[in-house]
Amino acid sequence: MQQRQDHWFRPAAPHSDLAWQQSADGWLRLAVTLDGTTRSGRSSALDPDTAPMREWYDAAPVPPGGSGPEFFSDRIHRLNDLATQGVAANDNPHEDTRGLEAVPVEGLRYGLPSGFPATLGVSRSRDGILLDIPLSTPRGEAVRVMGLGEKTGSLDKRGRTWVMWNCDEPVHSPEKSALYQAHPVVYLWTPGGTVTLFIDTMATVWFDVGEAEPDRLLIEIYDNRFDCYLRTDESLPEAVESYSALTGRIPLPPEWALGFQQCRYSYFPEERVLEVAQKFREERVPCDVLYLDIHYMDGYRVFTWDHRRFPEPDRMVQGLRDQGFRVVTIVDPGVKTDVDYPVFSSGLEKQAFLTRPGGELYVGKVWPGDAAFPDFSRPATREWWARWHKTLFDAGVAGIWNDMNEPADFTGDEVLRVNFTVPDDLVAHNEGEPVSFGRVHNEYANGMNRATRDAFLQYRPEERGFVLTRSGGTGVQRYAAIWTGDNHSWWEHLTMMVPMFLNVGLSGAPFVGGDAGGFQLNADAELYRRWIAAAAFTPFFRAHSALDTRDHEPWSFGPEALETARRFIGIRYRLLPYLYTLFEEASRRGTPVMRPLLWEFPQDPRVASRADSFLLGNALLVAPVREPGVQERSVYLPAGVWYDFWSGERIDVPRQPDGSGAVVVGNAPLDRIPLYLRGGTILPHEGLRQHTGETGDGVLRLLIAPDAEGRAQGTFYGDAGEGFGYCAGRFWRGSFSWDGSGLRTESRAGESGEDLRWTSLATAVCPGTSGELNPEAESLLDLPHGESRLSLPWA
Ligand code: GLC
Repeated sequence: MQQRQDHWFRPAAPHSDLAWQQSADGWLRLAVTLDGTTRSGRSSALDPDTAPMREWYDAAPVPPGGSGPEFFSDRIHRLNDLATQGVAANDNPHEDTRGLEAVPVEGLRYGLPSGFPATLGVSRSRDGILLDIPLSTPRGEAVRVMGLGEKTGSLDKRGRTWVMWNCDEPVHSPEKSALYQAHPVVYLWTPGGTVTLFIDTMATVWFDVGEAEPDRLLIEIYDNRFDCYLRTDESLPEAVESYSALTGRIPLPPEWALGFQQCRYSYFPEERVLEVAQKFREERVPCDVLYLDIHYMDGYRVFTWDHRRFPEPDRMVQGLRDQGFRVVTIVDPGVKTDVDYPVFSSGLEKQAFLTRPGGELYVGKVWPGDAAFPDFSRPATREWWARWHKTLFDAGVAGIWNDMNEPADFTGDEVLRVNFTVPDDLVAHNEGEPVSFGRVHNEYANGMNRATRDAFLQYRPEERGFVLTRSGGTGVQRYAAIWTGDNHSWWEHLTMMVPMFLNVGLSGAPFVGGDAGGFQLNADAELYRRWIAAAAFTPFFRAHSALDTRDHEPWSFGPEALETARRFIGIRYRLLPYLYTLFEEASRRGTPVMRPLLWEFPQDPRVASRADSFLLGNALLVAPVREPGVQERSVYLPAGVWYDFWSGERIDVPRQPDGSGAVVVGNAPLDRIPLYLRGGTILPHEGLRQHTGETGDGVLRLLIAPDAEGRAQGTFYGDAGEGFGYCAGRFWRGSFSWDGSGLRTESRAGESGEDLRWTSLATAVCPGTSGELNPEAESLLDLPHGESRLSLPWA
């Protein structure tokens, strides 16, 4: 990174604009208001249900001195001026041309009360405010840096600079930093403690994580009014729980949203959709959701149907529903500027769209050609937008897929797709405090997703609703699940999905997945098989493929690939009781469904930045195969007892003196990937269903995996899988424990199992010696299950 030596240095910051506060639940907050205003306290990043309950009181004394509004950064100045003067500008904020030379502000080094007594420096940079935090501890331990949401690269984000700036980046090559999501939160992790640092702004933020200097974290914020939140916790799980308490948690999804989902750009006409549905059922590949991409619309006009392709959408959707499929439709924010199109004309009338500083409508370009962009930071626009969903809900659509909501705008350069978003100098209503759009850029998708959630509340109050989004800012998880956009059918992207999803989960958004099989270009059978096998264990599980690619359905790659897809999608369905339990925990505590090894094994020195495998919950270790032509791969197993998911073999991994485990070779023929069940856990699962609407055989199965002492423990949550009965206590949450001879259950909450679909309980205990699995069995899930002596605990 270039250090600049130039003229833009200004006198030190006006100290009076910086105030430290503290909350009873352990947060420190540095409130920065540099624009002469006082912060209203409004922040769309914070969970509105919990934020008002948190009381803040002044912490450290505010240092004296200061020289007033001079502290504006040049860029912020410019953005504000532009809004009032009507000057157009569209800097490319992806370009790393910033100067990061800090102007230390005397007295503003703040000691962090953590395991490592770092200090926080606050200063002014050319374009914003600079925070400066050492990445070293007195004992010289390595500080890992995780979080930052959806980024390329490794689990540990050190050594690079990352920008928070949502844009439609179509090629996720390793050097790319700005993708579709902005999560300005980092966890500075050591085995002894975690420091969480969150910048509450929807403007651009740069994180130089040890690039300029290896042991320094420099955070540059292009905003003049933001809060910096800091806290220390003893562990990463506690840190993530605290962070999600601040920024919110996912709503409990309907069970069907955890099933397999098939998408394509685009399935049309109706006959093609029905054909795909039929094929899933004929081939016995479980599936719950089919997607309609942009071709279902009339000339890409949102909230319309192309009636030549889909003559009677409600009849088609109902027909699919009868076969156990839900339909999810895409919705883009760009509204075609066609005066005969009611969405546009009503939007114009309601002043619902983003304008240029002079008040003139901003017209960009997206799929329908010229398009206007709703200003979702205006409550009336959100209401207006929510109402249009009636056209989709009337047809029976079950979920909404919000795409292009960075927002994508092809005006910049249609070929290179450079700077593919709307200009910074548009005016955003900002809930009644108008600002340049650049200041709230990363909030755009949250506003859209919020309007979609409101539409569900309005039109489908009995349903939990399902919203999928490409873009989002902090707090997006309160409204939508995330898919990570336009990846490629490359082995590199199969590899990259693991650290990317892990960091999205740590950044507060556990409901995350990517286009299985790869979106752009063509997968071959081997890549498709490996990808489906790994993606089956990711929180959101959808296959998708771009226009002009070959067919990418489970049967499109020949009989062997079909068999592999059937197997892994089947395992996904059999594990739904476990997955659902994990999602319920995520909705209550923010816990990631997909976890890095260090989440469960923080004292193991060999897992700290490992993302060549991951954990689904605490029980299952998944080791994706990430290159062609291999039939085995090495897998690192932390110390303890593990069971090979396929052979049933018990693997005792001794603890090394430094606390580490061992590398084993996992067998990985094309129809398997290495999977290990962790000793000491109990895995709830069930018989195969073709979709979640089937009741199944009514048997809840528990797979008991004893640890070295012969014990095991597992939690379980169940409810109706849809609707809000669970809010009235109609659920069962509790734990099972195994002491070597018998199973004990303990109900922790919820009294009623009346909505649960299981009528009996069966248990199986993992074999204690190698190779005891029944040769007929496919996996540990097929161990013969005996009826338990216990009846269902909720019966
Ligand atoms: C965008 C989306 C992709 C979708 C396409 C057409 O590229 O990321 O998923 O298929 O637009 O709507």
